[in-house]
Amino acid sequence: MEPTTFVLFGATGDLAKRKIYPALYNLFVRGKLPSAFSVIGLGRREWTDETLRANVEQSLRRFSRTKPDDEAALGRFLRAFRYCVLDIGREADYQRLLKLVKEREAELGIPENRLFYLSVGPEHFGPIADNIRSSGLGSGRGWKRLVIEKPFGHDLASARELNRKLGESFAEHEIYRIDHYLGKPVVQRLEALGRHPAVRGLWTGRRPANVQIVADESVGVEERAGYYDKSGALRDMFQNHLLQLLMMTAVHLPGGGSGDVHQRKKRIMEALRPVTKETAAACIVRGQYAEGFIGGSPVVGYTAEPGIAPDSQTDTFIAARLEIDNDDWRGVPFYIRTGKRLREKSTRIVVEFGAPEGQPEHGSDLLVIEIGPNERVTLQRGVQFAGSAEGIEQVSVELDINGDNSPEAYENLIGDALAGDPTFFAHWDEVELSWRWVQPVLDAFAENRVPLHRYAAGGFGPAESDALPAKDGFRWWLDDRSDAKSDKSEGERYVCQSNG
Ligand code: BG6
Repeated sequence: MEPTTFVLFGATGDLAKRKIYPALYNLFVRGKLPSAFSVIGLGRREWTDETLRANVEQSLRRFSRTKPDDEAALGRFLRAFRYCVLDIGREADYQRLLKLVKEREAELGIPENRLFYLSVGPEHFGPIADNIRSSGLGSGRGWKRLVIEKPFGHDLASARELNRKLGESFAEHEIYRIDHYLGKPVVQRLEALGRHPAVRGLWTGRRPANVQIVADESVGVEERAGYYDKSGALRDMFQNHLLQLLMMTAVHLPGGGSGDVHQRKKRIMEALRPVTKETAAACIVRGQYAEGFIGGSPVVGYTAEPGIAPDSQTDTFIAARLEIDNDDWRGVPFYIRTGKRLREKSTRIVVEFGAPEGQPEHGSDLLVIEIGPNERVTLQRGVQFAGSAEGIEQVSVELDINGDNSPEAYENLIGDALAGDPTFFAHWDEVELSWRWVQPVLDAFAENRVPLHRYAAGGFGPAESDALPAKDGFRWWLDDRSDAKSDKSEGERYVCQSNG
């Protein structure tokens, strides 16, 4: 890996503390950082190099999956860090930054390879990119890369405008748009999973009946009212993470074709049957959490959360039915759901195969890909809904995907950005096509064409969301809906669930 300067905008912020420093440290411990490496942290606060290092150390002690127990190694890691006060809008500050970057490059004898990481609010993305260009920071003799956090735009028009703006300073191949779902270990293994003989076997002679992509959360809006109330579940989770999961599933599971992954993902988005604001209500369910109980404790409803207007119409739950109009997936509905304040945190993909021809008693075969908080893949044959499984042999196979203490999403992604590997970043085509699909739904929401259903916190979301798969004769494969404890082992729990 080439020697690099890692320029971090937002070095005093929360994301840096929770994710970026631990990711860098774990890469360092695993020998995955360039041998000569310089980090320049930027922020408005009047910190010194020492304050930055003390904060980095604290963040590692608190958030890193590998604790910094080796003092000598920690010291070597921290020595790479420098701090520079920077006001994002002040051009003179970028000149000071350039001077510091160059000094460090000279000290370490490294080429002018610069990675700019924007861990700041989206309103700063454009101005920072401009200033990187005009200050000369972006015209060194090495490569330059821009790593950018979500949200990438607020709607189709603003996403296009942001992309145009960034394009004045960086080429598409230099822009690494983070979608942290693409960094999740199980998502990174979907391609290998699609080649697994047991998985290929499922596809032999038949096609899935449906695919379900679920990202349920039990947390509420947390301390992010200002951001979340303007965003909602559709923008916060669906437009980016869930559509990325849809693309990854569709290209990597058997039948997904071969060739360049970004081209294939783009083709999936192009094949996604569009919705219009007139048809949105038929395939989208939106909801907002009301008060309820999470883990036995009472929680307030969304509109009673601090910072949320009492008449807010923001969606905290979205379910959708989508169809991919290509030869691989035509006729296989994709049901997608995500929401806050649901019964449990669970991110997973479930591929359901119907009973073989003429054997309705066999039940369904399920490929259950758990992405978080558990990381595991199980294959369950002959699965029935509650009460009807008697006499049917249930087979549950756990496929080893090596989940123990695996790297976190940010570690994978920052490692890839440093190595110049764009595979697990969102390409502009994908982002634009996702917004194109979502925009009519936003328009329908704005015109109140899709009802906003209230759902009790701690449950399974609005009952209306069950109608989406039910119309096709299916049900969500969620975790056990009954309060009764199942006597099945963990890997078999889908066997006992019922949506009823
Ligand atoms: C973020 C969203 O992108 O993803 C949050 O802004 C959400 O609202 C989070 O809670 C979920 O990520 P994960 O990794 O916990 O599934």
